[in-house]
Amino acid sequence: MAVFTVLGAGMMGSALCVPLVDRGHEVRLVGTPLDRDIVEGLRCDHVHLTLKHALPEAIVPYHVEQLGEAMQGCDALALGVSSAGIDWACETIAPHVRPGLPLFMITKGLTWDGERLHVLPDVVKAKLPVGVRDDVHPAAVAGPCIAGELARRVPSCVILAGRHQPTLTELAELLRADYYHVWTSTDVVGVEACAALKNAYAMGVAFGTGMHVARGGEPGSVAMHNVESAVFAQALLEMGLIIEAMGGDGRRAAGLAGAGDLDVTNNGGRTGRFGRWLGTGLSREAAIEKMAGATLECLEIIAVMREASRGLIAAGKLAAGSLPLLDHMAEVVLDDRPVDIPFEAFFGGSR
Ligand SMILES: NC(=O)c1ccc[n+]([C@@H]2O[C@H](COP(=O)([O-])OP(=O)(O)OC[C@H]3O[C@@H](n4cnc5c(N)ncnc54)[C@H](O)[C@@H]3O)[C@@H](O)[C@H]2O)c1
Repeated sequence: MAVFTVLGAGMMGSALCVPLVDRGHEVRLVGTPLDRDIVEGLRCDHVHLTLKHALPEAIVPYHVEQLGEAMQGCDALALGVSSAGIDWACETIAPHVRPGLPLFMITKGLTWDGERLHVLPDVVKAKLPVGVRDDVHPAAVAGPCIAGELARRVPSCVILAGRHQPTLTELAELLRADYYHVWTSTDVVGVEACAALKNAYAMGVAFGTGMHVARGGEPGSVAMHNVESAVFAQALLEMGLIIEAMGGDGRRAAGLAGAGDLDVTNNGGRTGRFGRWLGTGLSREAAIEKMAGATLECLEIIAVMREASRGLIAAGKLAAGSLPLLDHMAEVVLDDRPVDIPFEAFFGGSR
């Protein structure tokens, strides 16, 4: 048995606690300043406010002021924040991280420094205090895993990616439960690029269902699956090109963290719901309003990728015009242009 501290009591940080307690670990779930109501709700009746589901009583909820207490005797630390909270999380954990502490995150995102795209495990490592940085090897979980399903113990397959295999092996062994299947990979660029990019591309895959609804269509076997599948294939192609431009293995796009997570995010995630609203013809603002405050990391990653793709093209790492789907998604959510999928430019161009 180990002691796990999870910082961030949102949907996924909290859902992750379920396999951990089922494995017999002691689990301390620490809310951010934004999670006060969630922590209070868990203390009151164990029902998670946004998951709308009761969590095991063995999970001990803490407010952020109690982080020091929650870190005492901690064997592994998980970051459960979304990408908007990663800087805050790094600053907050800094006084509590000791050399050798296994650290991993569920957070998905990429950052662009004007020359290179960086994956979050590297970003987090660079933000750790100098005295511990060399001895902490951040890892990240990727793969098709909807929080509400994991909280209900639905069988889920994920990849734990990082640069230090001994840390991955140790963490994976602690994380595995009979319904939570964990693989490890040191291809942190490929896995984490997929994890972040699918949040953007799932929005585009979902356009087709929204277009079908806008035409008055009913759900069924004749809908706009042709559209969805063509966009899905183009999304994988573009994810592979971006991974290659980052120096990774583009074949990763066809695996669990790429195709697997893209499918679940389109069908079961909030990004898919957002894309469907856009596909019906709603403006960006109207679609955001429909999402009622849900975290929309697709907006962040598309903004990062518009700038990054221009930089990568200028540096000769990507061919101009090779990401027509990404370009169109950026037009839709950053320039508020209507959905008008550029099929002719897909798959290398049909002319
Ligand atoms: N929901 C899922 O099914 C799912 C699945 C796999 C991975 N993820 C990833 O997990 C991460 C969290 O997603 P979620 O679904 O739990 O979202 P959520 O909105 O339920 O929770 C977000 C968490 O981040 C914190 N946070 C947000 N902005 C912050 C800020 N500015 N400063 C400090 N903390 C901040 C919140 O307090 C909360 O703890 C995301 O990166 C997401 O891509 C989610």
